[in-house]
Amino acid sequence: MRKKVSIVGAGNVGATAAHWIASKELADVVLLDVVEGVPQGKGLDLLEAMPIEKRDCQILGTNDYADTANSDIVVITAGIPRKPGMSRDDLLNTNYKIMSDVVSKVAANSPDCILIIVSNPLDAMAQAAFKQSKFNRERVIGMAGVLDSARFRTFIAEELKVSVENVTAFVLGGHGDTMVPLARYSTVAGIPITELIPAERLEQLIQRTRDGGAEIVKYLKTGSAFYAPSAAAVEMVEAILKDKKKILPCAVYLQGEYGIDGYYIGVPCKLGSRGLEQIVEIKLTPEEDAALKKSAAAVKELCAVIGV
Ligand code: LAC
Repeated sequence: MRKKVSIVGAGNVGATAAHWIASKELADVVLLDVVEGVPQGKGLDLLEAMPIEKRDCQILGTNDYADTANSDIVVITAGIPRKPGMSRDDLLNTNYKIMSDVVSKVAANSPDCILIIVSNPLDAMAQAAFKQSKFNRERVIGMAGVLDSARFRTFIAEELKVSVENVTAFVLGGHGDTMVPLARYSTVAGIPITELIPAERLEQLIQRTRDGGAEIVKYLKTGSAFYAPSAAAVEMVEAILKDKKKILPCAVYLQGEYGIDGYYIGVPCKLGSRGLEQIVEIKLTPEEDAALKKSAAAVKELCAVIGV
C-alpha cells in the first residue's frame, strides 16, 4: 500500500509541497484547506499531470479532515504569510489560533502520524503543535534548518562557482533573525568554507542567509517564499518515508541537549521512519554556543506570549 501524506494549507507552500511529493512519487497526497474549492482545484489539476509525469500518486483536494485519516505524515503549512516589513514573529497570535485548531483535528484523525510543521513563527508553532497534539517529541518536527541551509548553500555555490551538490552547510538555531549559520561545519567537497572564502565576505553571505526569507518577501510583496520552503519540507518527508536515517537540521524539542531544556530550536537531527531518531550533539565554540542560547531565548519569549 502506498504511503499517505496530508498537507494542511493549500496555499503556495502546501500546493508546491504536494507537487514535489507527487513528482518524486513518494506517497498519495491529501491537500486540505478551509477555503472551499482551492484544494479541490489544485489537487485535481496536479492529479491530471500524473500521466504526463508518469507518476502513480492519488491526489485529493478537500475541506474535510476525515479525508486525512490515518496519514503517515501530515505537513502543516496553514497560517498567514508575512508581508514586506513584517517579521515572522508578527504572525504569532493569528497563526497560533490556526495551528491549535488544525493540530487538534489532525491528531484526532491521524493519531499515529508524524507532524512536520512549516507555519511561522516556526519554532513557536512547532512548540504549540507539540503541546496541542500530546505526541511524543519524535513525531513533531519543525522545518527551518533545511531551508536556511539551502539558502546558505546556494550563496556559497554562487560565490565559489561550484556545483550545489558539492556544498553542505549547517544552519542551527531558531528560524528568525537569531539563526546560527555554522561556517566551520559548512564545506565544499569536504573543505571547510572558512578555508575558501575570506571572513568578511563570508559574514556577508551569512547575513544574506539570515535575511533570506525577507529578501523573497520584499520581491513578492503579497506572500513569502514557497519553492525552497516546500522542497525543504519534502526532503524531510522523504527521509522519514524511506527511513533514510538522514542527518538534517530540524527544529525539535530539546530536553537538555545543547544545554537547552523545554524548547524547540534547530539542531542536527537524524530522520528515519520513527521521525526524529537522534539529536546529534556537535561541539560548539563559546561564540556559537552563545548564539544558539540567544536564539533559544527568542523562541522562549514567543512561547511565553502564547503560553506554550
Ligand atoms: C522563509 C519563510 C517561509 O524563510 O519563513 O522564506
